[in-house]
This record gives sequence, C-alpha cells and structure tokens, in this order.
Amino acid sequence: MSVHKDRVVLAYSGGLDTSVAIGWIGEQTGREVVTVAVDVGQGGEDLDVIRRRALDCGAVEAYVADAREEFAEDFCMPALKANALYENTYPLVSALSRPVIAKHLVKAAREFGATTVAHGCTGKGNDQVRFEVAITSMAPDMDCISPVRDLALTRDVAIEYAEKHDLPIETTKHNPFSIDQNVWGRAIETGFLEDLWNAPTKDVYVYTDDPTYPPLPDEVILTFEGGIPVAIDGKSVTPLEAVQEMNRRAGAQGVGRIDTVEDRLVGIKSREIYEAPGAVALIEAHRALEAVTLERLQRRYKRQMEQVWSDLVYEAQWYSPLKQSMDAFIEDTQKYVSGDIRMVLHGGRATVNGRRSESSLYDFELATYDTGDSFDQSSSRGFIEIYGMQSKLAAARDVRMGQGTGF
Ligand code: ARG
Repeated sequence: MSVHKDRVVLAYSGGLDTSVAIGWIGEQTGREVVTVAVDVGQGGEDLDVIRRRALDCGAVEAYVADAREEFAEDFCMPALKANALYENTYPLVSALSRPVIAKHLVKAAREFGATTVAHGCTGKGNDQVRFEVAITSMAPDMDCISPVRDLALTRDVAIEYAEKHDLPIETTKHNPFSIDQNVWGRAIETGFLEDLWNAPTKDVYVYTDDPTYPPLPDEVILTFEGGIPVAIDGKSVTPLEAVQEMNRRAGAQGVGRIDTVEDRLVGIKSREIYEAPGAVALIEAHRALEAVTLERLQRRYKRQMEQVWSDLVYEAQWYSPLKQSMDAFIEDTQKYVSGDIRMVLHGGRATVNGRRSESSLYDFELATYDTGDSFDQSSSRGFIEIYGMQSKLAAARDVRMGQGTGF
C-alpha cells in the first residue's frame, strides 16, 4: 500500500463544523482529507447521506461504519460489568464512545494512508484528550490535530466559510445546547444550563419521559449470563438490543435522568445533564445479581476497582495498561454473575424486587430465622472473642494510660 504522507483522517459528524473542517484543513495544511463517520447510536442522519455530504464538501474518501453492535458489546458491556459511574453518578456515555470512534479513525488512517488524525473537539473538554490519547495508544506514530483548537476554526468562521463555498450544509440552525448521544445515553451541556441555578427544561430530554407523571409500573425480568444481559422477559437479546429495549422501557418511566456538576480532566467544573435509562436500570440489576453471586471480599474489592476503572475511562485511559489489567480482574469476577433479576420501573426509579441464580452464594438454610436453620450459633461466641481482641486490648491500654473513654 502506498503511504500518502499528505493525508488527514477527520472524525466527521456531518454537521456544520466538521463539514467546514474538510476544506479548512485542506487549505491550512495543504493535505487531502479522508472523513470517518461512525454510528454509535447518535440518531440523526443516515450514514449514506453523511458519506455523500463529506464527498460534496471535498473529502477524497469517506469512510462510514455502523459500530452500534461493536460499541454495545465491547464498550458498554465492560462498563456494565464494572458498574461504571464516574463520581458515583455519570455512566460514562461520551467517555465510552471516543475509544470506539478512535479505533475506526486509526483503521481508516491505515487503510487510506493518513499520518494525522483530526477531530472537532474544542480545547476545553475531555473528548479531545480521549480521542488523542486513544489514538496514540493504538498508533504511536500518529499525529493529532483539532481545527477548532489548533487552526482557529471558530463558529463564525465556519458559517462564513460554508456560505462562501456554498457547502451543502445548513448554517442557520443553531442548537442552544451541546449534545452528545449514543446507545448508552445522552449528554446535554452549555446554553442556559451553564447557570447552575437554572433547572433543565423539558426540551432537554429525548430518551426519558417526565418521571413525575409515570404510566403504570412496568415489571421486567432481566436474565444475565457472565455479567451481561442475554434475555428480557424470557426473550433472547443481543447486548445492543438489551440496551435499546431498556432505554425504551426505563425511559418511558423517567429512569436515568441525571443533573450534576462534574470535574473535568482539564480542571474545569461543568454542569451536565445526562439521561441514560437503559444504562442506569441495567447497572442497578447487575449490582443486585453481584450481591448474590460474588464472594464478600471479592465484591468489596471490586467496588474499589469500579471507581478506579470509571476514573480511568473518564480520564481517557481506555487503552492503557492499567485499564487492561483491571479488565482481566473484572472479567474473572463475572463468571458466576448469571441468573434473573426482577425489577419494577416506575416514577424515575428502577427497583429490584427479586433475584434467582443457580450460582448464588445465598444459602437459605444459613440465613433463615425459621425452622431448618443450619447455622451453628454457638460458634459465634468464640468468633467474636477473637475478632474483637485487638480493640479490647487497645481499650484496656487507654484505661491504663489514663486515656479511657470515661464509660
Ligand atoms: N462531560 C461529559 C464527558 O466528558 C460529556 C461530554 C459531552 N461531549 C460533548 N461534546 N458535548 O464525558
């Protein structure tokens, strides 16, 4: 394959900024532009339409990929196994999609002989870091640029450029928010939400209905195998179908609306509205199944891992060695996370009310207070004696040293 030293691969959304970026990068760098559009469930236009527009705007090649299955299987499912919530709140929607888009960017760069990858991120957010760190973690020889950040492509310049060159793209429609959407959820920021006191208005939400006026409760049975959902109400589903179906059902009950102020990697605090009904309901169910199938210390240690894993993924470390090692640990914990979880979706909440599993560690005969109890209560006496020994010795010393608690 011949290597075109003069080619740039551009992460292309089909919108105004990246459409202008095709010609803009060409002018500023003297290189040819290959666009890459990846469907991760952001909705909107057909990939063929986006491909056509890229070529009409001057791209020499336009790569498109429907990556929804891949995204659900290889990115959302690991996040589910990790019960991943950044700052105990955010299901990592955007943080999960950048690494899969980056994978296709690198693939296209190799295929079309590009040495530089460009993306439409600003210099203020996490996404620029996620793209660039992911790209160079897979392809250390690759250069990265951002036309908005590095080539002074502001919004006004973009509108002017599009009009001057008569690009086939609308320049008048201006969304009041910055929105990032995929199969795992939606992120909404900027506009009037930048005032922390302003409550989000109804038009912000797409995946969820208002939880204040829910329809009748919806009971659902989720079947897991090895930590991932394989059936809903007895009907087999792929990971993608599981997330989509739970987005629909939990979304109808207003589950998964999040209004938060989060700490970005670049040191800025930002107001974020998220909606992730499927992710939130699935994580809740998955946790409930882990509660009956994971051994106590394994589960306790995994909880700490989950936080570190979420921080790493949020902070652009998807392809890092530490994250990969943690994946191996988490994967190992999932081998018995199989069984059914029953949950009620209603009024913004997903509440677990039943669990059953062949690989459960719950022992009815140990737990019961009724007849049939097999737990030898007499052995607890000696256990407590030894278990509390050190604290008892310390308390006795305090008394001896005149530091007693006074009781
Ligand atoms: N703050 C969130 C994150 O860092 C959402 C980012 C959304 N991205 C966007 N371009 N609107 O993951």
